[in-house]
Amino acid sequence: MLGRVNHIAIAVPILDEAAALYRDTFGAKVSAPQALPEHGVTVVFVELANTKIELLEPLDDASPIAAFLERNPSGGIHHICYETANITAAAERLKATGARILGDGKPKIGAHGKSVLFLHPKDFNGTLIELEEV
Ligand code: CO
Repeated sequence: MLGRVNHIAIAVPILDEAAALYRDTFGAKVSAPQALPEHGVTVVFVELANTKIELLEPLDDASPIAAFLERNPSGGIHHICYETANITAAAERLKATGARILGDGKPKIGAHGKSVLFLHPKDFNGTLIELEEV
């Protein structure tokens, strides 16, 4: 079910500052910011040789990232995204094991225009897992 690590997401309080840190201090390739209203975030992707880092800033106070930043004011690792070949089959298999899929339980379109879903951290060792179909 699991392929490569597609990205690791880090919640940040100030996206411009976080992007500058990766671009200027680390010298990494950083994308332009992209607002994703359906997910309540603005994202920037840092392109690395073997994966990406997704920097997440809340779009507003209702964003799930806003609550995360209240608990982690300087930011922190928010989720890890694994690639999967067939997200519908993965969702069925996970549901059959009793794992909880966040939201309405159906895949949504994520930051790369591909289907994604999120799994409840309490079912996966305290880690928020995103699956992305590739
Ligand atoms: Co993600």
